[in-house]
Amino acid sequence: MDNSKFYITTPIYYVNDQPHIGHAYTTILADVLACYHRLIGKPTLFLTGTDEHGQKVAQAASKNGITPQQQADMTVVRFQDLWKKLEISNDDFIRTTESRHKEVVQKILQDLFDRDEIYKAEYDGWYCVTCERFYTEKDLDDGKCPEPECGREVDRIRESNYFFRMSKYQEWLIDYINNNPKFIQPDYRRNETLGFLRKELTDLCISRPKSRLDWGIDLPFDDDFVTYVWFDALVNYISAAGYLSDDEKFKKWWPASYHLIGKDILTTHTVYWPTMLKAMGLDMPETIFAHGWWLVGRNKMSKSSGNVVNPMEFIDQYGVDQFRYFLMAEMTLGQDASFTEDAFIRRYNAELANDLGNMLSRLMKMIDTHCDGRIPASSTEGEDEVQLKNVAIDAIAKMVDCVENMRIDQGLVALAGVVREVNRYFEKKQPWTLGKEGKYEELGTVLYYAAEVLRIISGMLYPVMPAKMSELRLALGLKAGDPDYKNLKNWGETVVGTKVDLKETLFPRINVKKDSNKGGNQQKLQNKTQKQSSKTKKDAAEGIAQIEYTDFTKVELRTAKIIEAKKVEGADKLLRLQVELGEEKRQLVAGIALNYKPEELPGKMIVVVANLKPAKIRGVESNGMILAAGSGNLLRLVTIDGELPSGTVVR
Ligand code: ME8
Ligand code: MG
Repeated sequence: MDNSKFYITTPIYYVNDQPHIGHAYTTILADVLACYHRLIGKPTLFLTGTDEHGQKVAQAASKNGITPQQQADMTVVRFQDLWKKLEISNDDFIRTTESRHKEVVQKILQDLFDRDEIYKAEYDGWYCVTCERFYTEKDLDDGKCPEPECGREVDRIRESNYFFRMSKYQEWLIDYINNNPKFIQPDYRRNETLGFLRKELTDLCISRPKSRLDWGIDLPFDDDFVTYVWFDALVNYISAAGYLSDDEKFKKWWPASYHLIGKDILTTHTVYWPTMLKAMGLDMPETIFAHGWWLVGRNKMSKSSGNVVNPMEFIDQYGVDQFRYFLMAEMTLGQDASFTEDAFIRRYNAELANDLGNMLSRLMKMIDTHCDGRIPASSTEGEDEVQLKNVAIDAIAKMVDCVENMRIDQGLVALAGVVREVNRYFEKKQPWTLGKEGKYEELGTVLYYAAEVLRIISGMLYPVMPAKMSELRLALGLKAGDPDYKNLKNWGETVVGTKVDLKETLFPRINVKKDSNKGGNQQKLQNKTQKQSSKTKKDAAEGIAQIEYTDFTKVELRTAKIIEAKKVEGADKLLRLQVELGEEKRQLVAGIALNYKPEELPGKMIVVVANLKPAKIRGVESNGMILAAGSGNLLRLVTIDGELPSGTVVR
């Protein structure tokens, strides 16, 4: 990666409706990445904005009985307010109706037209209003729109339009993608685009006749047409960065380090956009990263499905930083994830309220009671202290590595591990007893070490939870805000004698009412967690160590439906399974061939470990692991009792 600067973008969101959790997710992710890069001292440009032209917006406006511009003006505020509330630190916010954007789009169009990259032709084919896409007869699925989520009626259209010569860049694009493995991430999305490019690429229709749609940027060379919304929207990434308006600025920031997008808009970003840039003679962005979807049940959370969770309501109830933490920790980047309130409460209570919050309260209370509210000096450094220190310092490097490789969730696992290490250290050293017995030197060491680890944690979690980590830093007597990254790993930065002061509990536990059904389960879970932590070692199952509840939550178990099973050639015990996890299809390799014939498996609903790192087994790619009970040669699959959709979380 270019190390001199960091330029990150989100999609610009349509203003046909208010933002939901999906939009919040991409924007928070971009914010967290931008914040980490600023922290390590890289000049950073973080851009987000709104996509305000096109049929979707025009239709929403007419439904609301207002003009498209009014629709945009009304809705953009909702995005801007939400970003403010979510502590989003974007450096710029672009609206495609701004003249700084429209002028650049027109200059680009004129230039491409002059160079014959754009031409006029008669178009005769099919059009889906919802997707705003043209299709040929062959493309259609049973005469309907072929988009997986759409399937709506299409209209026959015969009209003149302008076309961008996208098809001539097909070979170039395939080569570029193959030669630049970081260009499209994750890898399986790159393969998806390459798959798409196996079909012959057609030229891209980049105009709409005003007789059909007049809400768009006028074509500079023909007054009867407006620009196709995607050709307009994608240009935001360069118009905001100074292209054709501020050369110095543009030179400084382009190419972008990351275009973050959801997988729904992969083709526009990895086929249309690169060919447009190529025709303009511009460099490609370094990485286009497509994350997965937040699902509700098995469906994508989306405006059109009407199953959206309103982030404003959620953060009013549970808090901004808590929400940011959950989104970052819960979704493995690239894959889909389910959004449920239950999962939120569970993770929050375990990792934030219990592990981190309680530890902080205990520490503060002991410093208050035994050290007059000031950070005590540490005396001797024993093995336990060295271990704790190393775990904390290692986690810094781990997190930085995870940020660079788009594994934020894994970085958070490492940091949660550090917090648990402090709790283990407390359990071992029993500082509360040391205090009672007046062993102040030993006590001082324990408390100092815990405070130092918290200083590091507060710095590393700052990009994810800026306000809460500022509170934590203030409590430790550190300065709030920017956590002095370059000194983070210098052990001993905490100054002895600093006054500590925790104003209020950092992460109060969420208690779920016992009477509701959901609450009942929740309560049981909570009680179990509490009991587990107070259990003594002898209660543990013989020979197997007890684990924390949070250890269990690292394993993502999901229901999966077997679609197809085949033998793996040359391996007696192995079957290659194609399974469905909600909207996702996966291939797994399972050692069950001695117990199951391939033909008896399709249709079975099984349980798989969904977040296991992919592995090759006998040269066959396996994405996850099935659960089965077995002894000797006898083995039976774990299946689901009753009806449940595939992809459901198992706990
Ligand atoms: O597509 N899970 O805008 P849009 C995760 N204007 N992310 C989701 C999501 C979900 N369920 N739903 C939406 C557009 N998103 C165009 C983009 S860019 C030049 C033009 C997020 O309002 C995700 O980032 O439909 C997705 O790509 C984006 O919102 C789509 O937002
Ligand atoms: Mg969309």
